[in-house]
Amino acid sequence: MKKFYIIIGMAVFVGSFSMCHKSDVFSESGYDERLTGGAATVFDATTHAFSDPMPGLDARDTRVHQIGDQTFAQTFVAPPSPIFTGLGPIYNNITCINCHRNDGEGIPTSGSSNSGLLFRISQPGKDVNGGPVPVPGFGLQIQDQAVFGAQPEANMSINYTDLPVTYPDGTTVELRQPVYLLQNPYTTLASGYMLSPRLAPRLVGMGLLENIPESTILSFVDANDANGDGITGKANYIYDDYTKKTELGRFGLKANTSTLLLQVATAYQQDMGVTSYVQTVESGDGQAQMSVVHGDVQPELVDSLLNYVVFYVKTLGVPARRNVTDADVKQGSTLFNQINCSGCHRPTVQTGVDVNLAGISNQRIHPYTDLLLHDMGAGLADNRPDFLANGKEWRTAPLWGIGMLNITNGTEYFLHDGRARTLEEAILWHDGEAKNAKQKFMNLTLTERNQLIKFLQSL
Ligand code: HEC
Ligand code: HEC
Repeated sequence: MKKFYIIIGMAVFVGSFSMCHKSDVFSESGYDERLTGGAATVFDATTHAFSDPMPGLDARDTRVHQIGDQTFAQTFVAPPSPIFTGLGPIYNNITCINCHRNDGEGIPTSGSSNSGLLFRISQPGKDVNGGPVPVPGFGLQIQDQAVFGAQPEANMSINYTDLPVTYPDGTTVELRQPVYLLQNPYTTLASGYMLSPRLAPRLVGMGLLENIPESTILSFVDANDANGDGITGKANYIYDDYTKKTELGRFGLKANTSTLLLQVATAYQQDMGVTSYVQTVESGDGQAQMSVVHGDVQPELVDSLLNYVVFYVKTLGVPARRNVTDADVKQGSTLFNQINCSGCHRPTVQTGVDVNLAGISNQRIHPYTDLLLHDMGAGLADNRPDFLANGKEWRTAPLWGIGMLNITNGTEYFLHDGRARTLEEAILWHDGEAKNAKQKFMNLTLTERNQLIKFLQSL
């Protein structure tokens, strides 16, 4: 009998030991928590973590992805050049990759080839489609670069002032409050304009986000705050110039773009001055300097290349989580849910079906966003409406990949204009609907705050 108990005891011991080993990777439910992007997850923790194709693309799709990749990194030049022509006459940068560095984020400077910060501009009111009203002579975006013979629309000066924040435990953190000034407009600029700074975000899981069913996103809205957590959330609806329809917004920092096709085509047109079959008119249309320097064939970008770049962005993989079994990371994850960061940064979402692309079809993903707009308070406000987004509202920033930025980009800048230099600063700027969560974060002990940050770094 005694022997029998020893054998059982040993079996339990061995059993629990092997379970323990398994939990290095799997949680109790057997689910691998590292699979941030489901089947689109890539195991690459190098500088290229954002740049790998999702696994499982067939030979043809791989080839299209590669051509898209090359075009994404291609420098465009002013006409008349035989290839990759059409840059400008006014623009913000000469290639996608200068802003989305390694498919990651931009640098929050303005006016040079490594600047990833751009400024939207508009007048008060709404246009016929409910969108922002362009400023005569300037349109909807300040192009701060120009080809030879043309003038940039203006320069932006960026300054920061210190803003100290003190935790209940006495710890102090200096935030930096940006001050933006438009200088040297190339022509008269009527007063009363509104500016919105936007830093190029990292391009993680774009195809998966595009494939989340509209009904899922709408189900996250809690317009009357029925659960009393102070979080409501709002879907943006935007007018899509290409489909000529009002559509749900998902992309852009105010969910101000509907599809990847429109997003990429608008990047070519607004950010680089390159027209395409989707955006056929130059951003500087109507400016006197347009006719002087731009006699080239329109649209400037070959149709297939636009489609390939869209496919490239859509089929980028999502970096796997790291350190998921670390005790601090696990505790940080629990705290993240307990203080309701998860109220907006939704940990788990299911994508819809895509019969052409298995990697994004019916995947359980962990984007840490609801793709909804939230009032983030006066401190983060740009005070410039964008379709249904008011001046205080921003789209919940997806947090997947956020812990890889210091490796992919070397530098880390957070929030819509890159004002936050650390994850802690980013959290401390939260206000409005996120005020409760921010206050609960501030009331945590230093150890707990560090655990939460460690969790974010594992994403
Ligand atoms: C001047 C810098 C700049 C350049 C050049 C640029 N982008 Fe962007 N990109 C941005 C900014 C800023 C945003 C956010 C825009 C907004 O809020 O409307 C953005 C957003 C995006 C998004 C949506 C991301 C999201 O999370 O919703 C995609 C996709 C994208 N860009 C792809 C491209 C491609 C492809 C190119 C080249 C054709 C390109 N970008 C060129 C700055 C840039
Ligand atoms: C009410 C919704 C809401 C809640 C609650 C919330 N966030 Fe956010 N979060 C946002 C929005 C919206 C942004 C983008 C704000 C901006 O860019 O100005 C953001 C941005 C961030 C960023 C910067 C992301 C980036 O890529 O720059 C981090 C980090 C972050 N949140 C972490 C947290 C943590 C941790 C908590 C809990 C303490 C939390 N958030 C609670 C809505 C929320």
